[in-house]
Amino acid sequence: MRFFIDTANLKDIEEAQNLGVLDGVTTNPSLMAKEGIVGEENILKHYVDICNIVDGDVSAEVISTDYTDMVSEGEILAALHPQIVVKLPMIADGVKACKYFSDKKIKTNVTLVFSVGQALLAAKAGATYVSPFLGRLDDISTDGLHLIEEIKQVYGNYGFETEILAASIRHTMHVVNCAKIGADVMTGPLSAIEGLLSHPLTASGLKKFLADYQKGDNQNIKV
Ligand code: E4P
Repeated sequence: MRFFIDTANLKDIEEAQNLGVLDGVTTNPSLMAKEGIVGEENILKHYVDICNIVDGDVSAEVISTDYTDMVSEGEILAALHPQIVVKLPMIADGVKACKYFSDKKIKTNVTLVFSVGQALLAAKAGATYVSPFLGRLDDISTDGLHLIEEIKQVYGNYGFETEILAASIRHTMHVVNCAKIGADVMTGPLSAIEGLLSHPLTASGLKKFLADYQKGDNQNIKV
């Protein structure tokens, strides 16, 4: 399972990258705004800054909603850096634009996916990634994990190569459950990644190991 971080915060991206487990980044206009990144020039520069921190794919979302503008905007984004993946919303023009970019061998991420039918369309259009929004479905009392299971089944039935990018991950159990189901990638906040580290028995076990080391004949050995 690949780990993407879902943020535009450079410090969080660096922290996940330094942990050695980061495979990519996803962003969206809300995440950019949250970091105070506004205006086209600043946003484009920020994508390049992100690409320079992380080794893997970086999703950059278009804000246009009609085909022609999506294509021009996506081409500008894709030209920024080889790691850029053009992120397109699941609307008819987004599907058309996805097909355009996949024919040109430019990576795409179809976002705002909430149903198996939408995921099927994204795969038919040749999307590199499909992003079902787990947390937002859970927010409205609908089982987000079940959607990911269903997409996996449908993609498996036909051998679609589109990768399932479990998005809108909110916490560690989302990550663990997506891993059990076999989602190809998950994208979540730093807290969901770092939360996987914690276990009280690890903390108490390490404390005791270090205390016992100090009690033994090892005090003079430099470590
Ligand atoms: C996906 O790419 C989106 O950026 C993101 O996962 C949305 O998450 P949210 O529902 O927590 O805003």
